[in-house]
Amino acid sequence: MDADKIIDKLYESCGASLEELEFLIDGRNEETAQKLFALARSRALEHYGNKIYVRGLVEISSFCKNDCLYCGIRRSNVNAQRYRLTKDEILECCREGWALGFRTFVLQGGEDAYYTDDIMTGIIAAIRASYPDCAITLSLGEKSRETYQRYYDAGANRYLLRHETATPEHYAKLHPKELSLANRMECLQNLKEIGYQVGCGFMVGSPYQTTADLARDLLFIKSFAPQMVGIGPFIPHHDTPFAHEPAGTAELTLFLLTIVRLMNPKVLLPATTALGTIEGDGRERGILAGCNVVMPNLSPQSVRKKYMLYDNKLSSGEEAAEARAALERRVEAIGYRVVTDRGDYKG
Ligand code: 5AD
Repeated sequence: MDADKIIDKLYESCGASLEELEFLIDGRNEETAQKLFALARSRALEHYGNKIYVRGLVEISSFCKNDCLYCGIRRSNVNAQRYRLTKDEILECCREGWALGFRTFVLQGGEDAYYTDDIMTGIIAAIRASYPDCAITLSLGEKSRETYQRYYDAGANRYLLRHETATPEHYAKLHPKELSLANRMECLQNLKEIGYQVGCGFMVGSPYQTTADLARDLLFIKSFAPQMVGIGPFIPHHDTPFAHEPAGTAELTLFLLTIVRLMNPKVLLPATTALGTIEGDGRERGILAGCNVVMPNLSPQSVRKKYMLYDNKLSSGEEAAEARAALERRVEAIGYRVVTDRGDYKG
């Protein structure tokens, strides 16, 4: 096999085989990386120009009924600081976000039973009524099809649910036995059928992950054809069973982002907080690898340090929604521009 040929094929046909992806990932070097960066960037430019979309992220709850081995807000972490936002607090975040120029609000949280369907649809409907020009994105985990439908009917447009890993055996090593990849996949399918713009994704460098797992993630994403893909490095959290596992690297994350862009030319691809956390210029490097979305933190200051999925998670500096001007400067410094626009998928 020849890396150059695989890359040319990736660019021209937006596809590659499992073996080709494994070969590309295992054999990666500065030269193949640079070639992929240039092609991924030109693909993003072709479809989205030099626009970078922003989403205001509101972390509504750090309570979670799940016990994912990698996550700092897992149920059995007794040291996690728990909080949940009220409807009024969430609406206040949106008000501030709107004034800062955000036209997408992402409500993310642990799987917290406090938010019954009635409470959650009340929150969604209130945001929908106050901000008819904005997109509402949810990232609240696994729910029944009926619940997803109710959220959608109340006014939600998009849903982020990372598949985490497309390999069932790997999934079982990262999650407690109550959770299954099959259920995760069913949730993703339901979301799509209901009509949401859907995002899936995975962590890079999570414990036990092999190159074949990564290649299967890339092929799954291609076949699922999501509108959004979230990819960031795994970063250990000190109060989890994976406390002493090594973090994923920015280098491999960026390499995979270029491949995701080439396999899914129009996908909305965030330069994630985790990438910005392990590398000071992670977000800029993400954009230069074909990313076209950033999601600054719009949560109330008082809770930002409490939504700790992993150690040192960024929530200040340009990661903070109120630092939009600083974010704009950094984005402009590399030739891009932040736009105030819902930034829907261009299907
Ligand atoms: N490192 C990096 N990402 C993490 N997530 C959860 N825990 C970690 C961690 N330790 C990611 C998961 C989840 C998303 C909200 O955050 O992929 O889907």
